Order: sequence, then C-alpha cells, then structure tokens
Amino acid sequence: MDDNQERQDFDLTESDEQLSADEKTILDELGIVGAARRKFLGQNMAAALGTFAFHLLAKEEVFATLAASPDAVFASTAGVENAVKVLLKINGSTQRLEVDSRTVLLDALRERLGLTGTKKGCDQGQCGACTAIVDGRRVLSCLTLVASCEGKEVTTIEGLADADNLHPMQAAFIKHDGFQCGYCTPGQICSAVALLQEAKNGDVSHVTNNLRTSPQNLELSDEEIRERMSGNICRCGAYPGIVAAIREVHSGRETAQTRHFANDEEIAIAFNEGKADEIV
Ligand code: FES
Ligand code: FES
Repeated sequence: MDDNQERQDFDLTESDEQLSADEKTILDELGIVGAARRKFLGQNMAAALGTFAFHLLAKEEVFATLAASPDAVFASTAGVENAVKVLLKINGSTQRLEVDSRTVLLDALRERLGLTGTKKGCDQGQCGACTAIVDGRRVLSCLTLVASCEGKEVTTIEGLADADNLHPMQAAFIKHDGFQCGYCTPGQICSAVALLQEAKNGDVSHVTNNLRTSPQNLELSDEEIRERMSGNICRCGAYPGIVAAIREVHSGRETAQTRHFANDEEIAIAFNEGKADEIV
C-alpha cells in the first residue's frame, strides 16, 4: 500500500469515527460499506452529510455541530438549486456561504452556521422571535434573504456579549425578570439593542409626539418603548420586565428590581404575617 493510499484510509477511518451511531446505522442499512462507504464519505464529509442526515433524520442538532469558525469556507451543499455565493460578517467573523438564492437569513444562521440562538416562531414576519441586527438595524431574519446581506454585518444574540461580560441589555433582562420560557428573548434583546440606536438617531415611531422636530437622542417614554417593541410578541407576557429593562439601559438610570427570589427568612416572615400569597 503506498503512502497516499495509507493516508486516505487513515482519513476515512477518522471520518467514519466522527459519525454518530444513527448515521452509521443509516449508512449500514443503505448498504454503503467498504469501498462504497469510503467513496461516499470522501465525497460528502465536507458538507453534504449534514444535509443528507437532516433529510433522513430531521435532526436539527446535526446542523448545530457545524461550528461558526472565523473565516470558515462552507462548501456548496449538494443539490442546491439557484446557488448564490454570499460573503458577509456574522458576529465579527467573515463567512462565505453558498446557498439557494431563496434561503432566508434565519435558516442560514440556524442550519448552516449552527447559530441557534435566533429563534423561529411564526416564520412569517409576525412574532419577532427571529429578530437579528443587520448593519445596525433590526430585521426579521425569517423574511430577509441571505443574498440581500452580501457585504453586511449581522449581529445575533450570540454576538452581543463581550466574552464573559453580558451586554447591558442582557444583564437588564435578567435583573428585571424580562423573560420566562425564554423563547422570544433573543429576538426581544436584539430588537431592544437596535431600538437604543434608533432613539439616538432620532428615528420616530407611531407615537412620537412631534414628527417634524424630533431631535437626536430621543428620550423614550414607556409608551414609546412599548410601541417600538410591539413587533416582538412574548407568549409568556413578560412585558413589564422587558419595558423596565429597556427603560433602565436607555435612560442610564439604575432602577431597583421589583421582584426577587425570596430567601428562607422572608418566606418565614410572610407565612407568620399571613402574606404567603404574596410570594410567587
Ligand atoms: S419567526 Fe420571524 S417574525 Fe416570527
Ligand atoms: S419569555 Fe416565553 S415567550 Fe417570551
């Protein structure tokens, strides 16, 4: 066996080891073994196996294992129709994608890049769960074609924190209990971060009092915050906490938490005073 053949066999054995038990079972059941398996893996390990397994298993986590690495080059997915090449920056990393021209940003983020923080809710522009920031402005990623993001900077919830330091808006959501199940939260936070910039720019909303003389650095009332966040639906009804969090970050004035987890002493006092119902 020459060096090249030995190297090839070594690579393919390594590739085979990277398969999950389900993927190995599928290949076995399809009779793709031995030389055929070697050929299959050689042709598909770069990208197409993820798509292949997705169609067979409908397992989103297969895609989630595709790490979003800096300057990663994603090979063309086999069978892509109307392929377009898109170069864009996502959370500071340059990404080159080759996608079907109809692919929306949401699907590219979740299924090609493993950035599953951005959520799919209605998938038709009505709930705001998929909100991401493109060139500083919030967009509904379920209605935004990746092809339209060529050369742009995309920020998702994964790109807001600075290493271990949460973005102030993330910290405020935690402090003010701005979420319960958390499904809408990445979209709410991305929307809120972009909203701060809109206020700085002096962008008006439906409830802005004076449309003609709207200054930069608008001071947003709670009514304005509610109106500007009205595209982000929260099924858990965490709206009071969301508004409090945005108000605090926008105004720069720290406000007290209105709720906190009761400790043992507070629980005992509440029981003694017959106020146990006030503990939620
Ligand atoms: S998933 Fe995009 S608006 Fe609902
Ligand atoms: S926190 Fe559950 S949908 Fe908003």
